[in-house]
Amino acid sequence: MKANVMMLPGDGVGPEVSAAVEKVLVEVARIWGHDFSFQHGLIGGASIDACGEAVSTATLQACQASDAVFLGAVGGPKWDGGEVRPEQGLLALRKALGVYANIRPVHPHPSGFAASPIRPDRLRGVDLLFVRELTGGIYFGDKVEGADKASDLCSYSADEVARVVRRAAQLAVGRRGKLTLVDKANVMATSRLWRQVTEKVMAEEFPSLELEVLLVDAAAMHLLSRARDFDVIVTDNLFGDILTDEASMLCGSMGMMPSASLGDGRASLYEPIHGSAPDIAGQNVANPIGAILSGAMLLEYSLGLLEEARAVRRAVNACLDHGLVTRDLAAMDQTALSTKQVTQEVIDQVNGCVIQNQVAAAY
Ligand code: IPM
Ligand code: MN
Repeated sequence: MKANVMMLPGDGVGPEVSAAVEKVLVEVARIWGHDFSFQHGLIGGASIDACGEAVSTATLQACQASDAVFLGAVGGPKWDGGEVRPEQGLLALRKALGVYANIRPVHPHPSGFAASPIRPDRLRGVDLLFVRELTGGIYFGDKVEGADKASDLCSYSADEVARVVRRAAQLAVGRRGKLTLVDKANVMATSRLWRQVTEKVMAEEFPSLELEVLLVDAAAMHLLSRARDFDVIVTDNLFGDILTDEASMLCGSMGMMPSASLGDGRASLYEPIHGSAPDIAGQNVANPIGAILSGAMLLEYSLGLLEEARAVRRAVNACLDHGLVTRDLAAMDQTALSTKQVTQEVIDQVNGCVIQNQVAAAY
């Protein structure tokens, strides 16, 4: 298959994890005979430095015209206090692509148990999926910014809620059939709208699914005490941002977590959930797994290459099984590998799995 992937490395460790993903995708293309081409663009601080904007119109158009977009990370102290913030580039990109549903799977691997602050008996069997609304809410409402007073408006329309709830429910159908809505309906008007709309969509369109509703403060606690009970969790933009960072600790490291942002248009967006980690940028120590797993989501959701996506996930799991990990996950008595070494190990495992399958098929 032919595909044009837009790569936006961004800032901090973004370029290192983007290079890892591109290497893996190049290898996948070689093995399965696909024709992937990669275009590179600037976003975030890198774009501010180059042209004064956090993302240019030309880059946004190139993203819209591509088959899929991969983003590394944006931001860093270098751009604090500036007139334009690097994060504005990412928000503009999400809006331009219309990717309203941000899918963030949380599936702890035993190799992360030691690095997690949560007890292993609470981590075993956890397999949940966040669906975070991504193009509305307080992130995009009117802002007033003054020295004496500031405000951020949170607003949602019923349609904006319904479409993301529908996406989440569809995902729950293919899983364990449970949807949890997280809101703050005891205080916020937008949350009361979320509740009404969710209950209606679920009753009318997904009557066989189980619906649970939780207030966000309780959800923050339940995520640590009974994460296993969750299947798909749908929530608004801000709550989703906060809860998914919390949930990443179930996996032992932020560096493990992938995401896919989907809309109704052609190009979707894939990014690890971690930030630009300026403190370790350029040192070849960042964990590339969240980025590589985002690449697997790209293969699956944007290109429909299920076998290839599965091979990448299997390769990642094999590396984790063998303790081939970066320093965020390495135990005291374990040698930590570099970003490039882990990437190469994943590539070797992809090749290894493919050869094994071919041998199996020959018999
Ligand atoms: C994320 C990030 C972004 C967000 C920032 C960089 C704007 O934290 O993808 O979770 O808040 O959405
Ligand atoms: Mn975040």
